Amino acid sequence: MSTAAIIPAAGLGLRLGGEAPKALREVGGESLLVHALRGLRAATAADLACVVIAVPPGTEQAVRELLQPYSGPLELLIVAGGAERTDSVRLALELVPAEGIDCVLVHDAARSFAPPDLIERVVAAVIGGAPAVVPAIPVTDTIKRVDAGGLVVDTPDRSTLVAVQTPQGFEPGLLRKAHSGDTGGATDDAMLCERLGVPVLTVAGSQDAFKVTRPRDLILAEAILAERRSS
Ligand code: C5P
Repeated sequence: MSTAAIIPAAGLGLRLGGEAPKALREVGGESLLVHALRGLRAATAADLACVVIAVPPGTEQAVRELLQPYSGPLELLIVAGGAERTDSVRLALELVPAEGIDCVLVHDAARSFAPPDLIERVVAAVIGGAPAVVPAIPVTDTIKRVDAGGLVVDTPDRSTLVAVQTPQGFEPGLLRKAHSGDTGGATDDAMLCERLGVPVLTVAGSQDAFKVTRPRDLILAEAILAERRSS
């Protein structure tokens, strides 16, 4: 059993502000990308063999040098990302070895603190036969659908709603098929599998797998890191 991970890290992170691309912003003295890579490696039961990272074009060499000390025995491949997240994932997927990989994870660099047990849960479900797996947590807000004019259309029953995170796990052939068609409007990879009519399984997510998006998220990230370092 062997797993490959794709890390789309090519976003500029405009909502976060600052000079550096989001994945290179530091928390606790290390970049979000380093934290994400460390989390994947700590998930020992996931049996990670290869990591492909999509980065902002022009930063490939700098990112390679940054990550080399943290990659250990992993095969580390860096590729220039594309205009949209789905483009970055597709470009990275082209570098995932065609043979010997049983599960491909797609993990946002911005979900840098996803705990190892969550990562292992996703991989175990794929290896157990689920073709597409997403970590999910219940939503705490009431969610409403609104029209272009801002009027509420309806309010879905909250007990049926979840927020999904990454890493999302896939049977490799399915992920390739999902990315070979029209990816327009897709905000995650599971959505592409849903479009193919493939069942997507949820497993328990984690609050720690939140996406670093806005400046305040950096404060939460620092707090999680401090808690982990002290325990
Ligand atoms: O923009 P958003 O927060 O949804 O991005 C999720 C992840 O996708 C981030 O890790 C970001 O770096 C990555 N991304 C990418 N290529 C893009 C846009 C976003 O790899 N063109």
